[in-house]
Amino acid sequence: MNVRRAFRVAVLAGDGVGPEVTREAVHVLSEVLHAAGHAVECTEALIGGAAIDATGEPFPPATREAVRHADAVLLGAVGGAKWNTQPPTLRPEAGLLALRKALGTFANLRPVRTLPAMVDATPLRPEIVRDTDILFVRELTGGAYFGAKSRVADATGGEVATDDWRYTTAEIERVVRIAGSLARVRRGHVTSVDKANVLATSQLWRDVTTRVLREEFADVTLVHAYVDAFAMQLLREPRAYDVVVTENLFGDILTDEAAVLAGSIGLLPSASLGAERADGTRVGLYEPIHGSAPDIAGRDIANPIGAIASVGLMLRYSLGLPALADEVDAAVQAALASRARTRDLVTADEVSLGTRAMGAAVRACVGAVALER
Ligand code: NAD
Ligand code: IPM
Ligand code: MN
Repeated sequence: MNVRRAFRVAVLAGDGVGPEVTREAVHVLSEVLHAAGHAVECTEALIGGAAIDATGEPFPPATREAVRHADAVLLGAVGGAKWNTQPPTLRPEAGLLALRKALGTFANLRPVRTLPAMVDATPLRPEIVRDTDILFVRELTGGAYFGAKSRVADATGGEVATDDWRYTTAEIERVVRIAGSLARVRRGHVTSVDKANVLATSQLWRDVTTRVLREEFADVTLVHAYVDAFAMQLLREPRAYDVVVTENLFGDILTDEAAVLAGSIGLLPSASLGAERADGTRVGLYEPIHGSAPDIAGRDIANPIGAIASVGLMLRYSLGLPALADEVDAAVQAALASRARTRDLVTADEVSLGTRAMGAAVRACVGAVALER
C-alpha cells in the first residue's frame, strides 16, 4: 500500500495510569493510520514525575525538543504522592503547565456527551442526562494558573500567599473566537461562564465575549452565566448547553463535574489547540481529562476510552483526517454499545474488562466500522 502521509507524534505517557491508557490509545492510532495507508512515528518522551525521577525536572529539554518537532502530542497524566513534597515549580503538574505554555495551546476543548450506552452508568436520572452534548472550551494558558505566585512570612508569624489572576483582552478574544467558530458548526449557542458579579477578570471576560460574538458571530446566540449557578444548572438541565466557554480554573473544575453526566471521568478526552498552521490544522496536545489515578494505577483496570477518544480529536484537529476521527468515535460507541465496560462503568453484578481488553474491544470495532464503509 502507498504511504499517503507520514506523521510524527510525541507520546508523553507520564505517571500512574498514564502509561496504561496511553499504550491503548497509541495502538488505536497506529492501527487506523496504517489501515488508511499512512505512516506514523511515535516518539516517547518524559514528563511529570517520571521525568523528575530520570532528570530532576518535570519538563526536561529533551521533551521540549521532541514536542517541537511533532505534528501532535499525546499525553497520559502526571502526578502522584511521591512528588507532592517537591518545590512548587518542580512538581509534576508544573511540567504539564510548562508544556501547555511552550506549545501555546490556549484553547482546551473538552467534549462531554452522554452516549446512549452510558445512560445507565451515571448516578443521575436517565431523563436528565440522556442526549447531553456539550463542548467545553476552557482557556488554558492564562488566569490564576500562570500569574505570579508568592508565599512569604508575614508580621504575625504566619505566612501570606498570593496568586495573580490576570487576563488580557487578546487572551480572551482568541479563545472566544474558537468557541464561536465551534458553535457555528454545532447548534449555534454559546454559554460564557464567569464570576462578573465579583471578579475584575470576569468583568473583562464578559465585555470581550459580548463584543466578539456580536461583531464576528452574529449568527451565534450568547448567554452569560455565573459560575456558581452554572455548576448547579449543569446537573439539573445539561441539555440546555451547547458550547460553554470559560476561564482556566472554572473550566478545570466544571469539566470534572460534567464527567458525571458522561458516566465516568475515564471516558472524557481533550484537545488543547494553539495557533493555526498554514494547512488549517492546529498545533495540538491531546490528553484524557483525568489525572494519574494513583488509587487504581498498575492494576490494568483504568478506563482507556478518554485517551483513545483523545486520539480521535488528534486525527480531527491536528492531523487533518476527520473521516478517521469519525471511525475512532464510531468504534468507541460500538464497543460501549456491545457492553464492553471497564470497572468504573459497571454495576455491581456486571463483569468488567481490564484496560488492555477494553483497548482490544475498541480496536475490534475500528476494523468492523472500517469494513462497513
Ligand atoms: P484523578 O483524575 O487522577 O482521579 C479521580 C478519581 O477518578 C479517582 O477515583 C480515579 O480512580 C478515577 N479515575 C481517574 N481516571 C480514571 C480512569 N481512566 N478510569 C477509571 N477511573 C479513573 O484525580 P486526583 O486523584 O485528584 O489526582 C491524582 C493526581 O493526578 C494528582 O497528582 C493530580 O495533580 C494529577 N492530575 C493530573 C492531570 C493530568 O495529568 N492532566 C489531571 C488531573 C489530576
Ligand atoms: C487537568 C489537570 C491539570 C489542570 C493539573 C494537573 C495541572 O487537573 O488537566 O485538568 O489543572 O489543568
Ligand atoms: Mn483537572
